[in-house]
Amino acid sequence: MARVCLPCLLLLLLPPLLRVSADTTEPCELDDDDFRCVCNFTDPKPDWSSAVQCMVAVEVEIRGGGHSLDQFLKGANTDPKQYADTIKALRVRRLKLGAAQVPAQLLVAVLRALGYSRLKELTLEDLEVTGPTPPAPLEATGPALTTLSLRNVSWATGGAWLGELQQWLKPGLRALNIAQAHSLAFPCAGLSTFEALTTLDLSDNPSLGDSGLMAALCPNKFPALQYLALRNAGMETPSGVCAALAAARVQPQSLDLSHNSLRVTAPGATRCVWPSALSSLNLSFAGLEQVPKGLPPKLSVLDLSCNKLSREPRRDELPEVNVLTLDGNPFLDPGALQHQDDPMISGVVPACARSALTMGVSGTLALLQGARGFA
Ligand SMILES: *[C@@H]1O[C@H](CO)[C@@H](O)[C@H](O)[C@H]1NC(C)=O
Ligand SMILES: *[C@@H]1O[C@H](CO)[C@@H](O)[C@H](O)[C@H]1NC(C)=O
Ligand SMILES: *[C@@H]1O[C@H](CO)[C@@H](O)[C@H](O)[C@H]1NC(C)=O
Repeated sequence: MARVCLPCLLLLLLPPLLRVSADTTEPCELDDDDFRCVCNFTDPKPDWSSAVQCMVAVEVEIRGGGHSLDQFLKGANTDPKQYADTIKALRVRRLKLGAAQVPAQLLVAVLRALGYSRLKELTLEDLEVTGPTPPAPLEATGPALTTLSLRNVSWATGGAWLGELQQWLKPGLRALNIAQAHSLAFPCAGLSTFEALTTLDLSDNPSLGDSGLMAALCPNKFPALQYLALRNAGMETPSGVCAALAAARVQPQSLDLSHNSLRVTAPGATRCVWPSALSSLNLSFAGLEQVPKGLPPKLSVLDLSCNKLSREPRRDELPEVNVLTLDGNPFLDPGALQHQDDPMISGVVPACARSALTMGVSGTLALLQGARGFA
């Protein structure tokens, strides 16, 4: 959830809404340290003005109870400049916004207002962004975020959303996390280079797949990337991932491919050259019965834990590696398979069992997502 107070800002834009309410159910709660403020507007007729108390908080989370925020649109064209001093005084650094239908125009108005704040982390979750995005500003006027996270956010503009959103953010974004995306097929021409982005996390997108990754990783747009996470992202083969990295010319040091059902590459498949910088590879929970061929020849860290390796890999099957993890494979622990297949059995390999349970949750998401598909 977003941690700056959308309603707070809206209230700044719409002073007439500021009114004292006699309502007894308080949708917002501010902790004793004035640090974290959470609002949950589940009431059919929520008292939005309750969010005013969040104006002192550093972490703000607002859930809109699935309401449409169209009613706030009439204030969206107000120039936030007149409230700049008030917005600058906000302590908010982390904002989570979720569970609402938001017109893109309103979202942009909020970003413009947040441009005066010192917000660092913005999370959008369970949002349906409706309508067209207003034309891009000449210069980015939104916040200078370090981290942007999205989970289950749908956009009327399909895959163009990232490029459109990016135009409102000041450069300097370091981490971008996109889970349960409705579209990751970005038209690359509409995307600017993420000059400072070191972390890209596309985990929990079970219908992405090797070819979807190819479409999501626009060539030359992620020059600073160090860490790429593709956990539970429907990845099919290490070589398919390698090909996507090569095509995008990204050079991550660390690649997380855990929780994907990986196939060892078919014999005769074209070999791919892994990024030379790659030093850490996570192939945990990948259902592997043997070590895939064509892995990077040299690694510092290789995690093969919680797979289905029935015998210890031979030296010539493994890359040169300093730290190798093989826990939770049947050749080491005959019970391991059982734990992976039935997370309810608690026992000798608690680490694998625990993660398998997490996987179970992700599996449910996979089902939910499978029906929707990728635009
Ligand atoms: C908000 O309220 C709904 C319904 O009461 C509840 O299911 C949900 O967990 C709450 N969310 C938060 C963040 O408190
Ligand atoms: C995704 O967000 C929508 C609202 O846009 C919500 O109705 C739906 O329940 C969410 N899905 C999941 C899996 O949380
Ligand atoms: C690899 O991924 C698994 C599951 O996502 C995680 O538990 C483990 O810590 C990771 N290993 C490394 C070396 O980061």
